[in-house]
Amino acid sequence: MATLSQDTRQHLETILKEWDNAGQAVIPMFHYFMERENYISPEALELIGQVTGMSQSDLLGVGTFYQYFSFHKEGRHIIRVCLATPCVFCGGKGLLSALQKELGIGLDEISSDGLFSLKPAQCVGQCHEAPSLVIGTNIYNNVTPEEIPALLKKYREGDVAPQPAVPMGPPLANEPIVFTGLASNETLTIDRYESGGGYAILREIMATKDRVRVMREIESSGLAGRGGGAFPMAPKLQSVMKNPKPHYVVANADEGEPGTFKDRYIMERDPHSFIEGMILASYTIDADAGYIYLREEYPNSYAILLKALSEARSRGYLGKDILGSGWSYDIRIYRGGGAYICGEDSSLLNSLEGKRGTPRNKPPRLSDIGLWKKPTDVNNVETFAAIPRIMKEGGPWYKAMGDERSCGTKLFCLSGNIRRPGLYEVHLGATLRHLIEDLGGGVPEGRSFRAVLPAGSASSMLYPVQMDMQLDYPTLKAAGAFLGAASLIVMDDSVCMVDLAYWMSGFYHHESCGQCTPCRDGAEDIHEVLQKVVMGEGDLAHLDFVKSLGDYMRTASICGLGTSAPNIPISSIEHFEEEWREHILEHKCRTGICPMTRKKIVDFPARRSPGLAAEITQFQIHEP
Ligand SMILES: Cc1cc2nc3c(=O)[nH]c(=O)nc-3n(C[C@H](O)[C@H](O)[C@H](O)COP(=O)(O)O)c2cc1C
Ligand code: SF4
Ligand code: FES
Repeated sequence: MATLSQDTRQHLETILKEWDNAGQAVIPMFHYFMERENYISPEALELIGQVTGMSQSDLLGVGTFYQYFSFHKEGRHIIRVCLATPCVFCGGKGLLSALQKELGIGLDEISSDGLFSLKPAQCVGQCHEAPSLVIGTNIYNNVTPEEIPALLKKYREGDVAPQPAVPMGPPLANEPIVFTGLASNETLTIDRYESGGGYAILREIMATKDRVRVMREIESSGLAGRGGGAFPMAPKLQSVMKNPKPHYVVANADEGEPGTFKDRYIMERDPHSFIEGMILASYTIDADAGYIYLREEYPNSYAILLKALSEARSRGYLGKDILGSGWSYDIRIYRGGGAYICGEDSSLLNSLEGKRGTPRNKPPRLSDIGLWKKPTDVNNVETFAAIPRIMKEGGPWYKAMGDERSCGTKLFCLSGNIRRPGLYEVHLGATLRHLIEDLGGGVPEGRSFRAVLPAGSASSMLYPVQMDMQLDYPTLKAAGAFLGAASLIVMDDSVCMVDLAYWMSGFYHHESCGQCTPCRDGAEDIHEVLQKVVMGEGDLAHLDFVKSLGDYMRTASICGLGTSAPNIPISSIEHFEEEWREHILEHKCRTGICPMTRKKIVDFPARRSPGLAAEITQFQIHEP
């Protein structure tokens, strides 16, 4: 085995010193080798083991959990094509097909010239500009199959520079209310943020050392978590506060839900309101350290946040003795490795500790036993970013927006079959009709609205009869759905509801962490059965099987991934039974999307990382 240079060892030793312990340094070390060599070689693994004192099996156990780490040689350029809805509805299948044809390979294969690896991605946060693909760290949106040969030619000729770290996508698509910084097409630098009044509240709080005021405003605003669970923020902070120190604050910037891109917008356009909000929340509970757990799919956000944190440090808002208050605190960014489950807060903490991102049993709550078993507050990026404005205008100002059941405003991500996809900010309690018709412009001309996924992949669907439903947390719950992070994926009559269920089941099968049997086996079994239906081999008994297995998963899974996984298949079977019967009994798909032959549409590799000995299969896509 070739040995790596002394420089490489020193580099790993520097990484080791940057983190709290050896285990936590492993994922950053994997990133280092991925950036350098596009894979983690046996020599690299050996060296990481020597530097961290961890065994090869422990290192592989962690590394192979994550999609962005490879332990076998990859092509020079790794292409990741998004196969999550809404990319799938907006041309993603055609893109995959064009890539397979141009490269002559299937998913998880390497082109014969060694230049390209082709991999599936599960939402890269560009859903309103679907379909998307990523080559290295360069992101390409609204790509057509016809553009693929020319795009790959550029890479073959070595004619592609890394994209600059600027915000991707158009600014907020309507008038901002709380998130004024999102109306800009650029990143708000610290100078511009401060000239608009930014960090004034932090200065005030530090000068008066008034921790209680921050808590009071958050409490009176009724601010609830914006990452999906809608748990009120103040009680969570109070719960950390009453526990012995050290206290940690962690920002959940994992944003893996298909159809969601709002946190990316905040981090890329208005990073300082997020950072200021996080500092204020941390001060109110006298936190000792802060982390941003950032998904690897967001290279621009990473570069922009790094710069913003260093700007904040240079003005004395982070670091030792902040603004002479006697309080010392800093925030570090920890990059994930590509796993949807790491958005779940306890998996996130396991990953942040350098482990596999598997959820913990709850209780205990993370506010009692969190990061390194210490009291920890985990909140979503949008939740933190609302705090500076809440402090400025006062909690009651925020609370007065929204309806009596859900306070404040919410960022809604609109994607799928809609004329004006994008990011919108509205009062909670706005109707579905307002979002889809008034703001989004409705479905494309000549099409009719069929259904919407209100929470990306997680919730049951909403239908045309529910157009006047108010979008707030209790109303959706009462309707058997939930709002989650408010990613509305709109579907018109070009979407086959059986095909939708099939793709969703593939997503969950791929993303299940495998820790508990109901989810691990249930997600696989549902996917296999739905595959049979779209291949024309379905049986009516399969429908009851999906429903009863889904019910079991809902009650017996450890975490929200397993309980959500059957929602869309069951919702589709219940509302579109006639279409399911047509697929099964008549071998007919109204939209012509399902192949109804013994040919597979596409399959997700069951393992996230191909591991050492990748089992490679040629996946073919069916073109309607
Ligand atoms: C499968 C799953 C994925 C999740 N993904 C995210 C995510 O990407 N971002 C996020 O903030 N919360 C996500 N959550 C919710 C978190 O577990 C947690 O509730 C949230 O980070 C708390 O912050 P908040 O109260 O500010 O929303 C997810 C939950 C589950 C069950
Ligand atoms: S429900 Fe699924 S994702 Fe959650 S712990 Fe169980 S196997 Fe893992
Ligand atoms: S970028 Fe493809 S679904 Fe989000």
